[in-house]
Amino acid sequence: MENEKNIGVHETAFVTSAFRACDESLSRDKLARLWRNPKTEEWIAEYLDQVSSEEIYTHCLRNRFFMDTINNLIASQAIEVLINFGSGFSMYPFLLQKDLIHIEIDKPEIVGYKKEKIIEWQRNGILPKRTINFIGVDFSTDYRNKLQSKIDFIKGKKSSFILIEGVLFFLTIAQTDSLFSFFDTIQESGDYIGSASFQESLKDTLAFENLLNFFNQKVSKTDENDYQTLPDSYYQSNNHYKLIDHQDYYSLSALYEHKIQQQKQHILNENFYILRKI
Ligand SMILES: C[S@@+](CC[C@H](N)C(=O)[O-])C[C@H]1O[C@@H](n2cnc3c(N)ncnc32)[C@H](O)[C@@H]1O
Repeated sequence: MENEKNIGVHETAFVTSAFRACDESLSRDKLARLWRNPKTEEWIAEYLDQVSSEEIYTHCLRNRFFMDTINNLIASQAIEVLINFGSGFSMYPFLLQKDLIHIEIDKPEIVGYKKEKIIEWQRNGILPKRTINFIGVDFSTDYRNKLQSKIDFIKGKKSSFILIEGVLFFLTIAQTDSLFSFFDTIQESGDYIGSASFQESLKDTLAFENLLNFFNQKVSKTDENDYQTLPDSYYQSNNHYKLIDHQDYYSLSALYEHKIQQQKQHILNENFYILRKI
């Protein structure tokens, strides 16, 4: 993977992890640094310079918020399984309480590489043992039946938290609808979803214009319609889930006493939603 000239969408997973490693006291992720590599370091230096330097903190706070939310639910015995859709190189299995069962779903090349590295680090004593089930799936394919039987086999009737962060921006609305209806089929009443997405107003910012230019140079030719945004109403109007928390970069900065550095025009403000199945 590391020899490709251009960044692939799947390699955004390296970039996201690298941001978390840039401010460990904010992200509380001391393991993201394991995924650092020279190519990603080059990418993030250019990205921070050309797109938005605030991206370190937006990513750190996203991780911190979901980690704290999941930790609180574990403490109140509300969840037993974390199912991470588009899990990339996130390290929740090693950051959260050790008895949680993990299902990590991403493109086959990502989960294959992640599994290999984790086994290597466990063998070398860098990481402890954890229960992680890796499943390779592309959300643009017809994955439902096969994935459902794999998840049912691992999870049974156990309570779950589904996490989908840093992914919906790259999917279509049809793929998103399909995922949310799939979540409904695999979860029970009282289970949770944590989702991150951008609102349409993102596209009015200079930071988004910069992002588009950056992706066009480094990833592939795209226009603004290739990047999905979702309104609050997408979450508010789900008949099977109740929206119980909604945050964004600004509210999380206040919550975690983080000092915002840039003007709004230079910030890619992501929104974070917690839903509970009715
Ligand atoms: C920006 S990364 C975020 C990774 C992780 N959730 C995090 O926050 O660190 C986006 C992830 O979504 C995955 N992804 C994007 N499109 C996908 C698809 N069609 N099917 C499966 N995974 C996909 C990528 O492979 C990548 O790991």
